[in-house]
Amino acid sequence: MKYHSRKPEDTKKIAAEILNKFPGKKVFYLYGDLASGKTTFTKGLAEAMGIPEKKIKSPTFAFISQYPGLIHCDLYRLEAPDEGIFETLKEYTESDSILVIEWPEIIENYLQIDHIKIKFKHAGEDSREIEIF
Ligand SMILES: Nc1ncnc2c1ncn2[C@@H]1O[C@H](COP(=O)(O)OP(=O)(O)O)[C@@H](O)[C@H]1O
Ligand SMILES: [Mg+2]
Repeated sequence: MKYHSRKPEDTKKIAAEILNKFPGKKVFYLYGDLASGKTTFTKGLAEAMGIPEKKIKSPTFAFISQYPGLIHCDLYRLEAPDEGIFETLKEYTESDSILVIEWPEIIENYLQIDHIKIKFKHAGEDSREIEIF
């Protein structure tokens, strides 16, 4: 399923739509280049869940940010996955929170958890393609 976003607000709305479309699903893997909209999408999820948007920013030094009902991981700077990160992520999947993982490539072959994959692509200055695959 493919969505087209023309501005950051669209990306947030699409996030809310996808959240409603998969009510039982709790883990989202977000793929895509820098500035393709992964964190903006996460803000949209947070907003839809009633978490104040300002609290969601890219976890830069910490890989993981926790909010009520939402855990946001950015693995961009994770150089090598270790048991610690696997254990932590697995524990999160056992909680009731929604888990969002940006840059999941580094862990996806090791961590077997049910998830939805979403790919973000630049499609012009403020245009993005968002695809569930
Ligand atoms: N349609 C769009 N959807 C999402 N972000 C957009 C869009 N158009 C422009 N942008 C800008 O692109 C950047 C996306 O940043 P961010 O969401 O942090 O991306 P990522 O987490 O993938 O690195 C922001 O500066 C945002 O304002
Ligand atoms: Mg990001």
